Amino acid sequence: MTRRVAPKPKQDTAAGVRLNKYISQAGIASRRRADELIAYGKVRVNGKVTRELGTLVRPGDKVDVSGTPIKPLTETIYLVMHKPVGVMTTMRDPQRRRTIVELLPKNIARVVPVGRLDYDTAGVLLMTNDGELANRLLHPRYGVDKTYRATIAGRLSPEDIKALHEGVALDTYTAAGAKIRVVSVRSGYSVVDITIHEGRNRQVREMFEALGHPVQTLVRLRFGPISLGDLGVGRCRSLTPRELAALRRVGQAEADEARAT
Ligand code: URA
Repeated sequence: MTRRVAPKPKQDTAAGVRLNKYISQAGIASRRRADELIAYGKVRVNGKVTRELGTLVRPGDKVDVSGTPIKPLTETIYLVMHKPVGVMTTMRDPQRRRTIVELLPKNIARVVPVGRLDYDTAGVLLMTNDGELANRLLHPRYGVDKTYRATIAGRLSPEDIKALHEGVALDTYTAAGAKIRVVSVRSGYSVVDITIHEGRNRQVREMFEALGHPVQTLVRLRFGPISLGDLGVGRCRSLTPRELAALRRVGQAEADEARAT
């Protein structure tokens, strides 16, 4: 006797999402109810009734339930990238230099960087399609802490450290006070961790330059609660739920504080 084996349900692929999941993600019905709607012939894909539960919905497909078009809920994406030196924090570069796009996973929805790092700066770069959170994290009024590890020429004097704590006058503005930790002092150069809450263009480089200690290398170790950990140079990973919750809290706590003042 031959036994009939039930066909394996189709899995989501990069090319598409299972129809029942697509309907439930859009908030129309539970996954089980979506199965019923499909089985009852209420669901059309590109105008054709489909009763196949495993139908894959591909980008651009039009789905309706009893004639009501369904809009998919776009998945929100939160990535941290270990940006290498020699890569532009832009989606396209007219001068054809390498950009962060090359380092993103293939087939993901469009994400944008949360702020930017210089071409010659490495380290933590958040990428997301959650525009609201990105704006909040970047808004100067919420002042998210960013920590950089700088290799600088020479050694900081006590006066330099005081100036960095109090705020260094630059060409067009005075940088707010920074936290400083001298990690090591070698002959001719020092390694210093600096935490700032502003995010002006080339700010860290200009602060050290103004004090006569040009930056030789710069790596962002931390953006708010998100750090590099053991993420390799040029690699990306999704934020963990815990990291995402922490990031949301940072923006929120600072937003609440700003509202109260
Ligand atoms: N400050 C800098 O000078 N460069 C960066 O890339 C980030 C902060």
